[in-house]
Amino acid sequence: MDKITIHHLHSLKERGEPIVMLTCYDYPTATVLDQCGVDVVLVGDSLGMVVYGFENTLPVTMDMMVLHCQAVRRGVRRAFLIGDMPFMSYQTGTADALRNAGRLLAEGGADAVKLEGGQAVVETVRALVEAGIAVQGHIGLTPQSVSQMGGFRMQGKTVEAARRLIAEARALEQAGVFSLVLESIPAQLADLITRTISIPTLGIGAGPSCDGQVLVTHDLLGLFERFTPRFARRYTELADNMRTAFSAYRDDVHTRAFPAEEHTYRLPDDTWQAILSALDGNGA
Ligand code: KIV
Repeated sequence: MDKITIHHLHSLKERGEPIVMLTCYDYPTATVLDQCGVDVVLVGDSLGMVVYGFENTLPVTMDMMVLHCQAVRRGVRRAFLIGDMPFMSYQTGTADALRNAGRLLAEGGADAVKLEGGQAVVETVRALVEAGIAVQGHIGLTPQSVSQMGGFRMQGKTVEAARRLIAEARALEQAGVFSLVLESIPAQLADLITRTISIPTLGIGAGPSCDGQVLVTHDLLGLFERFTPRFARRYTELADNMRTAFSAYRDDVHTRAFPAEEHTYRLPDDTWQAILSALDGNGA
């Protein structure tokens, strides 16, 4: 089982083989994802919404990201692990970006970092890459700018917006990103960008022509019920399964059907009698 590298991801694009990417926030899920041949695991700042229940990703801190990266790192052996740079961990200047990206690698164990934005982050990307840090870009719908964008809505619908996204993709490639997330843009535009740049594109709501696909794992599992984006496919209904399991447990406790004998530690009768006698038979 060879560990996935950037070189491998680039060769998948060259060979036209789709890259499989998912988000992950904890150790048990990381272990299972890794066993299933997922190529890229992203500890996304989406954890703010799907794990912590915030309205958006803005309250996520570096400390939260580092902690979740550490947990995921312990479960991932084969996949390429990316740590997401949270809101205001890189927008405040190159020095902050370097320090915080360094934390995701050194403390969190990530192989690379991801950050959102186009022209505004090009210089930051360049500085990180020059420092030896692998960076994944993210354009289109960038959730950290959700207010500016007027909500979680499709981007790149006009000539001007399409031209800007193509220019951003090129600028980020030149600045050294090793791959690029395209979120919530028309499939035709994602196809054009994918054919324009030589690094892999990972689409989320960007149609089938991207070099790979990424989803938020809680959407795929049916575990985040507040809303499901139009672009997400639910492969199971985990929240329903959990409700069934928790309700069955509740009923078993109420009826004393749980714990059964096989879940119970019980001393041999003679051992217990000896203990009882030593306790003067009154449990004192
Ligand atoms: O935070 C995240 O999960 C992401 C993915 C949606 C790409 O950025």
